[in-house]
Amino acid sequence: MYRLFLTALIPLAQAIDLQLDSPSSIKDATSKIANDMMTFYTGDEPGQIPGLLPGSLNCNPSEPDNYCWWQAGAMWGSLINYWQYTGDETHNADVRQSILHQRGPQDNFNPPNHSSSMGVDDQVFWAFSALDAVEANFPEQEGAPSWLSLAQGLYNFQMKLWDTNACGGGFRWQVVPLNQGYNLKNMISNGGNFQVAARLAYITGNETYGDWATMVWDWMASSPMFERSDGILYIWDNLNADLDCKGEEALVRLIWSYNYGVLLGGAAYMYNYTDGDPRWLDRVEEILESAFQLYFPAEFGGNIMVEFHCETQGICNQDQKSFKAYLSRWMAVTALLVPSTYDRIMPKLRESAIGAARQCKGGASGNMCSAQWWSDVPTGRTGVGEQMTALAVIGANLINPGMTPLSQASGATSESKPDTGVNTGPDPISRKPVTDGDRAGAAIFTILIAAFLVGGAVWLIWD
Ligand SMILES: *[C@@H]1O[C@H](CO)[C@@H](O)[C@H](O)[C@H]1NC(C)=O
Ligand SMILES: *[C@@H]1O[C@H](CO)[C@@H](O)[C@H](O)[C@H]1NC(C)=O
Ligand SMILES: *[C@@H]1O[C@H](CO)[C@@H](O)[C@H](O)[C@H]1NC(C)=O
Repeated sequence: MYRLFLTALIPLAQAIDLQLDSPSSIKDATSKIANDMMTFYTGDEPGQIPGLLPGSLNCNPSEPDNYCWWQAGAMWGSLINYWQYTGDETHNADVRQSILHQRGPQDNFNPPNHSSSMGVDDQVFWAFSALDAVEANFPEQEGAPSWLSLAQGLYNFQMKLWDTNACGGGFRWQVVPLNQGYNLKNMISNGGNFQVAARLAYITGNETYGDWATMVWDWMASSPMFERSDGILYIWDNLNADLDCKGEEALVRLIWSYNYGVLLGGAAYMYNYTDGDPRWLDRVEEILESAFQLYFPAEFGGNIMVEFHCETQGICNQDQKSFKAYLSRWMAVTALLVPSTYDRIMPKLRESAIGAARQCKGGASGNMCSAQWWSDVPTGRTGVGEQMTALAVIGANLINPGMTPLSQASGATSESKPDTGVNTGPDPISRKPVTDGDRAGAAIFTILIAAFLVGGAVWLIWD
């Protein structure tokens, strides 16, 4: 009996097959991974809400099997990339329905079911997916707003949130002043808006977007979130605006791969959009080389991506489990937009892909992925983040110059509507006085953060 059981397990113990020199093998592997990822999606079932993952209406990223609204947005983008890499249209209808369903009545990714807890960073991940659609000419739905207009609606919504009242500029994390985290100016919100603006500039050639992206970059780069030490650029997570972003106490020194990814990608679009401005090349190079040192540790051979704050200890939360997907995707985009980086990026995407495939031998399908790409032994933990990261890094091995993001000049057909949502959304932030209630909430939250840090726990990001 025991022996029979073991024999039955042997096929399951083999990881997903991946031969990187064979496009059909990569397609096969990514198709299995995408299908397994979609087993977590229930929004296409009767009575469920299109576009959402389980938990998205009231998420808590510390809970297993619970995914915040933003991560669902990111997942649809990963499936647009998958379609572009492989030509497999299996998931396209779900992708299209989901992005359109969650766009909100003003076409700006601020839908009422999520607007009361909206973060600037949450919105940008939906906009990234709309931009992925533009840049790959992902089919639009007749009668529905264009993919490009949705990203422009988001841009118009967020530009009113730029806040010069504290820290000399920057976006606050939260849209709603009463919410926890409104006191923080965090990297992913600022970097996310920067990347959206950079891509709008690249796609449309409209200088207004390019100037905006440069302004956001200049603020980030002169803020304490940028710190250099031993030849590495540290891109820290967030600043406390209640302290005017000044002093040690205002800075949270944690780094995440998606912050490197989002700035790398944005800088790569700016480099290409400016036709090779050497300042943008320097920025691309510095972020890329720093990311290589930080996220591809020498102890695992130097080419395998590791979310080192949490992964080796197995304590990544549901958000953090997906971060490697974004660094993978934007490394691939950078290899195309900044051709001089291609030869350095590809070995890292290759080795990481091989590592990722090795981890795909769990779950009901026998092919569900775990996150520890440096190890032969899967953790057994599976989920959307694990699938999305594997999908992104393995799929990226199919890139070729024909997959360079399209601009209007190179054939993107999605219609530009720069005024989308222009008269909607929040009042400009400068007109919003902070109330005593806001301050109290912010102070409580600061104490909570301090407790996390003093307790030695990793700072958990939630939306
Ligand atoms: C908003 O949430 C409600 C309650 O869960 C749901 O019935 C409705 O379909 C949602 N609206 C959208 C646009 O998803
Ligand atoms: C922009 O990207 C295209 C496509 O890869 C590439 O041919 C071109 O050389 C890039 N521009 C610069 C300035 O590197
Ligand atoms: C460029 O973008 C700005 C900002 O959205 C907009 O006001 C302007 O109309 C755009 N110009 C063109 C030619 O589309």
